[in-house]
Amino acid sequence: MAKIVAVAGTKGGTGKSTLSHLIAHGAGSLPRPIPAVVVTTDEDDDLLVGDRRYVVVDGRTPDLLAAQLEELLLVEHLLIIIDGAAGRADLDEIVSRLADVLVVPFGPADHEVTRVNKNLAAVPKGIALPNRWPAHQATRARANKLLDRIPKGRRFEFPFPAIPKLDGWFSAARYAELAYDVASPARGLVTEVLARGGIDLHALAGSSSLKR
Ligand SMILES: Nc1ncnc2c1ncn2[C@@H]1O[C@H](COP(=O)(O)OP(=O)(O)O)[C@@H](O)[C@H]1O
Ligand SMILES: [Mg+2]
Repeated sequence: MAKIVAVAGTKGGTGKSTLSHLIAHGAGSLPRPIPAVVVTTDEDDDLLVGDRRYVVVDGRTPDLLAAQLEELLLVEHLLIIIDGAAGRADLDEIVSRLADVLVVPFGPADHEVTRVNKNLAAVPKGIALPNRWPAHQATRARANKLLDRIPKGRRFEFPFPAIPKLDGWFSAARYAELAYDVASPARGLVTEVLARGGIDLHALAGSSSLKR
């Protein structure tokens, strides 16, 4: 059966869509690629088009989301990434019931930590993912202090870095330009996320075509 990673949280702009697409891109960029599909659920988002290392489908209404998942879940080797949206009761129910991993991104700011802790209290499965972490040493040291405010078992150990050139990642033209450079951090991200969910990445990729 397919595996589900959900990227959620109540606040906009924390990186839910960016990380969802990076997880999918990472899956499609592994030495043995894992087929991946991003389910877009935010009604304010346009559906991404263009050639990518993964597929994007429409889950922007409760009916569409339910229909897509019903079909996708039957696929044996597939990673389904649900790019979350706030204020969707149907989505919250599906995610709490079906997600193998529930990622809640937050940025390097005080109010972000307060918010993510509230989200974690509401969703027992949730794991906080520090996103957009500063690269500069002094700034990063300050940001790392924020991590202590989140219980260790409830967060990813390794923050995902701020990548300046990510802007425009959602456009087909920029994707083509960035795909190669972003593949490396994206592979690291999907590996961490799947490990956290106890998902075997080789099993999910299916058997190698290079059988003897
Ligand atoms: N790790 C990151 N490095 C650089 N920019 C990022 C990163 N994560 C998110 N962003 C930027 O933050 C903005 C909001 O991200 P988005 O994924 O749309 O958030 P959400 O889906 O939670 O509303 C986008 O412009 C995106 O490019
Ligand atoms: Mg979004």
